[in-house]
Formats: sequence, structure tokens, C-alpha cells
Amino acid sequence: MSALLRSPLLAAARSPRLERAITRLPVSRSVVARFVAGTTTADAVRTAETLLRSGRFVSIDHLGEDTTDLAAAEATVAQYLDLIDALGRLPHAEVAPGAVRPLEVSVKLSALGQALPRDGHAVAREHARRICAAAEAAGLWVTVDAEDHTTTDSTLAIVRDLRADYPWLGTVLQAYLRRTEDDCRALAGPGSRIRLCKGAYDEPAAVAFRDRAEVDASYLRCLAILTAGSGYPMIASHDPAVIAAAGVAVVAAQRKTEEYEYQMLYGIRADEQQRLADAGNHVRVYIPYGDQWYGYFMRRLAERPANLGFFLRALAGG
Ligand code: FDA
Repeated sequence: MSALLRSPLLAAARSPRLERAITRLPVSRSVVARFVAGTTTADAVRTAETLLRSGRFVSIDHLGEDTTDLAAAEATVAQYLDLIDALGRLPHAEVAPGAVRPLEVSVKLSALGQALPRDGHAVAREHARRICAAAEAAGLWVTVDAEDHTTTDSTLAIVRDLRADYPWLGTVLQAYLRRTEDDCRALAGPGSRIRLCKGAYDEPAAVAFRDRAEVDASYLRCLAILTAGSGYPMIASHDPAVIAAAGVAVVAAQRKTEEYEYQMLYGIRADEQQRLADAGNHVRVYIPYGDQWYGYFMRRLAERPANLGFFLRALAGG
């Protein structure tokens, strides 16, 4: 059932017509609030403070993607600078050099102009550079999200360029892509921070595993490469099988607690996040906020029939 619905829901995630219709539904905002921490910088910071008090770390994402307008990309940078300024005032921003930073922002390069018809790659790189410079000054980390496979080469090239100045800059790799095992090998070196996820887009079989079992097997192979490497693996999954395998892999690689972390999305398996944190693990919660929640929200619906059922019940007033 979930496999049948996944492709249409992911196609809907990219439809401006459906976006207009769904974001106007009176019930949408309250349903979306389960996965999205409000619309303003203050909302995001408030949510971050609550999670930090519970012993979890945070990565905050200003929602937005696929920008084809330079002014919108610049507005996104301004939003990030405002967010970083606010987060930098929290006591958690004071960290020793080289230590794990509890505060992080996540950015999508397509929101920074990567898809602009002229010079999109260079525009996104320079926008990301401004965000990295502000984050460095404020005591935060930055991780670059992974989007559809047509952007992977450009995204990894931008991360490689920026790491010359900001060696802590992290990036996401998607286990469903056939190339990712090789990317993990190439990027498992000293200082690298790789967030390993399964992958949330609708990708063709030529570039991606489409069978769930194949994606899971690829995740475990990639996890083994990253945990045996000398970087900082960020295990981004809600899957109990992945979390159990990661626990075994980090012990086998003799990694200390501060040499890896678990990551989950805001609003998903909060009890498990807290259980892992209470057991002494580093757990980071990815917190999205902002008005442009549609694409993010639709990908969450596509992942899990229970999320879709929750949305449909709310629509029906149940
Ligand atoms: P999956 O969806 O395969 O579920 C496996 C099992 O986990 C389920 O059978 C169930 O047991 C359990 N589970 C999952 N959700 C649950 C829930 N709500 N309640 C209870 N149990 C649940 N993707 C991308 O393409 N680019 C990116 O940049 C990112 N970034 C990112 C950051 C972080 C921090 C996370 C956690 C994820 C991403 N993703 C992402 C999304 C990712 O690719 C993937 O789509 C989702 O995490 C879903 O995959 P899982 O590994 O969580 O499990």
C-alpha cells in the first residue's frame, strides 16, 4: 500500500497547483504543526530551547526549495542569518574548539539558488559560504541537505569547495542512490561529517534502489563504511533495525559517544529520541520551520501511511 502511494504523493509534492489547493485547506496548519515548528525565527528558537533542555541537539531548517528567483534565494540567506544570530545568543553556542556543536542549521542548496538558470551553482555556493561564515562566528555547525539526484554532483562539489575554509561543514548522503557507497568511501576521511539517510525523493531505477529491502541493505553497507572511517557519522533514521545496527557498528569501531550521533526529524519517534539521549547518546533533532512547508510535509506523508491517515482523518474532522 505505502509503495503504491509513494510515487503519486512525491509527484504531488512538486505540483504548484496542488500546493495552492492543500495549503489553503483550513485544517492544514494544525496538521502540519506536528512536523513543523511554526513559521518564525522565534518559533524555531523556542522549539530548539525545549529540545536542548531535554538533552538533545538540534539542526534547524528554514523551509523552502527549488527557488528559481534570485531575490527569493537572497531572502532565504537573510532568514538564515537572522536565525543564526538568534541561535548564537543561546548558551549552547559556547563550545570548545573541535568539540561537537549542539546547534546546527541545515540548508538546501536549491533554496539558495542552485537551480537558477544562470550561474546557479556559483550563486548557491556563495550564499552557502555566507551562511557558513556566520555559523562559524556564532558557534554553530552547518549541514547541506541532499535533494534529487540531478543536484548531487553540484552539491558535493560545493561542499568540497567550502570545506577548504569550513572543514566542519557536513553533508547528507542518501543510501537509496546506487552511487552512495562510493561517495561514502570518498567522504569517510578525517573531519568529514556525513548525515546518512535513506532518501526521500522519487528516483528512477537507473540511479536508485527502489525496493525497500535493497535500500535498507545499502544503508547498512554505507553505515559500515562510515563507522569504520575516520569522520563523524550522523545516523539519520527512525528505523529500529538501523538504530540497532548502528549501536553494534559503533561498538565494533570502538567509537566514543562524541564520535557519532543519531538524528531524527522533529515530531517523529520523540520517545525513541529521548530514550537514546537518556542512554547517553548524542541525538540531534532536525527542526523545520517557515511558511513553505508543503514539499517537506508531502515527503513525510509519502514515507508512512500512518502519517497520511492522520492527515486524512484531520481533513474529515475526525
Ligand atoms: P523508514 O521510513 O524506512 O521506516 C522504517 C521503520 O522505522 C518503520 O517501519 C518503522 O518501524 C519506523 N518508523 C519510521 N517512522 C516512524 C514513525 N513516525 N513512528 C514510528 N515508527 C516509525 N532525505 C533526503 O532525501 N535528503 C535529506 O537531506 C534528508 N535529511 C534528513 C535528515 C534527518 C535528520 C532525517 C532523520 C531524515 C532525513 N531525510 C532526508 C529523510 C530520509 O531520507 C527518510 O525519507 C526518512 O528518514 C524515512 O526513513 P527512515 O530511515 O526514518 O525509516
